[in-house]
Amino acid sequence: MNYQVIVPAAGSGKRMGAGMNKQFIELNEIPVIIHTLKVFESHQLCTGIILVINEQEREIFNGLITAYQLSKVVALVSGGVERQMSVYNGLLAVKGSEYVLVHDGARPFITHSQINNLLNEAIISGAATLAVPVKDTIKRVKNNQVVDTIERESVWSIQTPQAFLISNIIQAHKLAIEGNYLGTDDASLLERIGKPVKIVMGDYRNIKLTTPEDLLVAKAFIESASF
Ligand code: C5P
Repeated sequence: MNYQVIVPAAGSGKRMGAGMNKQFIELNEIPVIIHTLKVFESHQLCTGIILVINEQEREIFNGLITAYQLSKVVALVSGGVERQMSVYNGLLAVKGSEYVLVHDGARPFITHSQINNLLNEAIISGAATLAVPVKDTIKRVKNNQVVDTIERESVWSIQTPQAFLISNIIQAHKLAIEGNYLGTDDASLLERIGKPVKIVMGDYRNIKLTTPEDLLVAKAFIESASF
């Protein structure tokens, strides 16, 4: 099944503290965003990449797309203040595709086999996300005081990509805007309107580069070529 993918890359990367958009940090002399885009560029079922960017960085992104000959990038769309708005802007640029994937630009270790597993579930269920079981004990906390301990078996760390029927995810985004709801992922927008989202086992290596220690882990993955 063919799909288009929205890659939000318009964040400021404040938590990384690199003084620039973390998408441009190099791993093995290749920017993070290029590692990510190349996976979709080389995935047969991907018919188009919609890259969501900060307008001030358009020239840099354009230069990278040309330099790395990324022919599947069909649109460079302006991002919003929050990730959710960036994805919504990307959704409006999807054309001629029944299914859409949303994948963070800052997750460069995604693989074809994980994408295939996700797509297979999305075809059956209409909406699916990669996720991994949490390894730590998770507690709910208020004012530095433990409220309760959440049963670990029921808690998963949610990753991207997430895969959706385009009509469903656009509707969910529109209803979220109407309801002033802001989620940290796209699946949550479907959940709040009662649409089921299936979990597909991801990979612990599919990390999102968020804080400086994530870069150390990413460098280790690259050096061991174990992703
Ligand atoms: O900030 P965080 O790492 O959770 O962002 C996840 C992804 O969403 C990143 O690739 C980031 O560039 C993107 N993003 C965006 N627009 C925003 C905020 C984040 O495209 N306003």
